[in-house]
Amino acid sequence: MSQASLRHLLVTGGAGFIGSAFVRQRLATDPDLRVTVLDKLTYAGSLENLAEVTGNRRFAFVQGDICDRAAVDRAAKDVDAIVNFAAESHVDRSLLEAGDFVQTDVSGTLVLLEAARRYHHERFLQVSTDEVYGHVANGRSREEDPLAPRSPYSATKAGAEMLVNAYHESFGVPTLVTRGSNTYGPYQFPEKIIPLFITNALQDLPLPIYGDGSAVRDYLYVDDHVRAIATVLSNGEPGRAYNVGAGAEVSGVAVADAVLELCAKPPSLKQFVTDRPGHDYRYALDVERIRPLGWQSRISFRDGMRLTVDWYQRNDAWWRRRKETDFWTYYRRNYQGLPSGAIPK
Ligand code: NAD
Ligand code: TYD
Repeated sequence: MSQASLRHLLVTGGAGFIGSAFVRQRLATDPDLRVTVLDKLTYAGSLENLAEVTGNRRFAFVQGDICDRAAVDRAAKDVDAIVNFAAESHVDRSLLEAGDFVQTDVSGTLVLLEAARRYHHERFLQVSTDEVYGHVANGRSREEDPLAPRSPYSATKAGAEMLVNAYHESFGVPTLVTRGSNTYGPYQFPEKIIPLFITNALQDLPLPIYGDGSAVRDYLYVDDHVRAIATVLSNGEPGRAYNVGAGAEVSGVAVADAVLELCAKPPSLKQFVTDRPGHDYRYALDVERIRPLGWQSRISFRDGMRLTVDWYQRNDAWWRRRKETDFWTYYRRNYQGLPSGAIPK
């Protein structure tokens, strides 16, 4: 990290998909950096995702909730910056039950901002999402565009951003926000479309495509996303938000086709199911603001998908442990009306 003063980071939510990739990449890249992870270890977080760094003397793990003020105080006291990944992160779960999303994504962010203010941290980086812009019919979202979230998940992420801005304006907390697009790669919990489709294909289960499968997302490989977060942390201007996207627009059907081809499975596994309520059909980002900071995506959708399918093929035990009883209870609730063969016995 180019800023000599950012020597010790508190990474909240660092046992999840993107947070753990950030921790692994930063510790490998910056030999002087110390990282403390604070994570509640919900269904989405696991120490397995941090196994690569657990023996590293520059790494520490604390199990705790970002809503717990005392736990946050203890963890935040000696660090230079907080990078907040902690969140409930899946849109479909927010449509079933939004309470935990308000609690963690909004109230938890407030607790972290209070700590950043109290301890005069040098930076506070909020990992946000392109979903705060809502459905984008035409053109590309720019950072000044109004936020128009349409799902409970994106509403809580937008609420968190409002608090982040307020703490910058009111108290001078040196905040940064990244708005990343749909991210994929190794260690992603198999509820989001790409790891769900890959693991279903490997299990010979149907791939449930919402509606007609025409909704598009800008898929970003996780290594590119975490490199962008590190770039903004080092070089971003406090008070600003930065879009992070790869620029590719890929439909749900195209994701399914890519997965089936790479896994050598038949097209008959595609299954069109009832559409998601309030489905945002398109996200698209203008990424001009982050470019002068020295970032652009490096991994194409095709290459990223090859790497990802290969990882899930080689890490069968990792994803099978996540697709156990609780997962199928959620799956039955979310994908109502699936034929019996769509769920393992
Ligand atoms: P994830 O669901 O894989 O991981 C979330 C992590 O947060 C888990 O380790 C979980 O245990 C932890 N956590 C949840 N509640 C907590 C709490 N109250 N206290 C402490 N820890 C808690 O999520 P992800 O996909 O890695 O996303 C990380 C961040 O990036 C989120 O803020 C998300 O909104 C944002 N984001 C995700 C994507 C994406 O495509 N996955 C895209 C853009 C932005
Ligand atoms: P998802 O991975 O849940 O991310 P997002 O937060 O962007 O909704 O979904 C990505 C896209 O894939 C979105 O258009 C909804 C669609 N989708 C399906 O068609 N089937 C599925 O089972 C899932 C989870 C998503």
